[in-house]
Amino acid sequence: MKEQQNILITGGAGFIGSHVVRLFVEKYPHLHIFNLDALTYAGNLENLKDIEAKPNYNFLKADITDRSAVFKLFKEYEFDSVVHLAAESHVDRSIKDPSVFVKTNITGTLNLMDAALKCWEKDFKNKLFYHISTDEVYGSLGAKGLFRENSPYKPNSPYAASKAASDHFVRAYGETYNLPYIISNCSNNYGPNQFPEKLIPLFINNIIQQKPLPVYGNGNYTRDWLFVLDHARAIDLIFQKGKLKSTYNIGGFNEWKNIDLVKLLCKIMDKKLNRSAVSAEKLIEFVKDRPGHDKRYAIDASKINKELGWQPSVSFKEGLEQTVAWYLSNKEWLERVSSGDYREYYKRWYVEN
Ligand code: NAD
Ligand code: DAU
Repeated sequence: MKEQQNILITGGAGFIGSHVVRLFVEKYPHLHIFNLDALTYAGNLENLKDIEAKPNYNFLKADITDRSAVFKLFKEYEFDSVVHLAAESHVDRSIKDPSVFVKTNITGTLNLMDAALKCWEKDFKNKLFYHISTDEVYGSLGAKGLFRENSPYKPNSPYAASKAASDHFVRAYGETYNLPYIISNCSNNYGPNQFPEKLIPLFINNIIQQKPLPVYGNGNYTRDWLFVLDHARAIDLIFQKGKLKSTYNIGGFNEWKNIDLVKLLCKIMDKKLNRSAVSAEKLIEFVKDRPGHDKRYAIDASKINKELGWQPSVSFKEGLEQTVAWYLSNKEWLERVSSGDYREYYKRWYVEN
């Protein structure tokens, strides 16, 4: 019998993963947290500098698409639970190159589940495979209605299709092999450490550099925004108390049309940068729409609220101000991650598109 439970968190060097790793390492000194990450363009160990020396933390550089590497790690560390966040996560990149999304998000998830099944050898006591997913699996809403746990799957982007497929495989492994799993599907996250390809950090970066703010289509698309630490708290609660073989939707009760959000962001940035005389709003440019662009996402998070008592704790204005403040005091982080490959991506998507 091991003295400590070993918890595997995948994708812990990424945006959400790094906040989840920090929360678990600090909150559970009696658990050993292993962060498995391939360090793709989106993974950055700088995100975890403050906790890297903690005795209950280890980083494992590995690729979840490398089946034998994944099996080897399970054999060596006998992980008791898995919180699986590693993924290709950006819709625009999935439009340019879907195949890596299939490989990482589907095959990578299968490799982890197969290795867990082998390691656990049908003794599932205190074992959990927790799969972190997205509300994009449900497709797009009209002007009314909310995504619920029983909403039909109707993914519209290659990213969403790959996440939907991985959700189906996780559920199927639960039915077929009795894998003790939980899935949660969350809405759009924002906050510190998000890679500047997603709307909010991209626009913060462009405002700092006085570059155009490329709003897709007419800007009337709606997203439901949640502060990343509130998502991490929800993941923690579900990890501790979630019902096995079930699904939880997580959302911010916080719908914003892109154009309204961008204008609010401009206002906050004008103030912080003392640029109110010429507002950042002048940088807004309406550009060609994203193909297959989902009109509206909005989550009914009443199940997690009723069952586990979770609700968002940070208001949008407060969260956005904290996020802007973080990026302004971490300009070097922003410069480092937006060099090299990022410039190539930006040129391919925004200039040549
Ligand atoms: P991210 O792109 O910031 O981070 C992904 C991490 O996974 C990176 O550290 C990357 O290095 C790692 N990774 C990628 N491919 C890998 C591979 N083959 N092997 C090992 N590691 C690999 O993503 P994020 O925004 O933090 O999202 C994390 C998870 O949460 C994803 O599963 C995503 O689908 C889900 N999600 C994200 C959001 C959001 O708004 N960002 C909302 C709901 C759900
Ligand atoms: O809903 C959860 C999902 O949210 C996660 O599963 C994804 O990993 C995450 O990337 C996010 O997907 P979106 O496509 O909603 O996020 P993104 O930040 O790329 O875009 C948000 C909205 O802003 C969307 O309507 C497209 C628009 N947009 C985005 C970019 C990058 C623009 O108008 N211009 C841009 O340059």
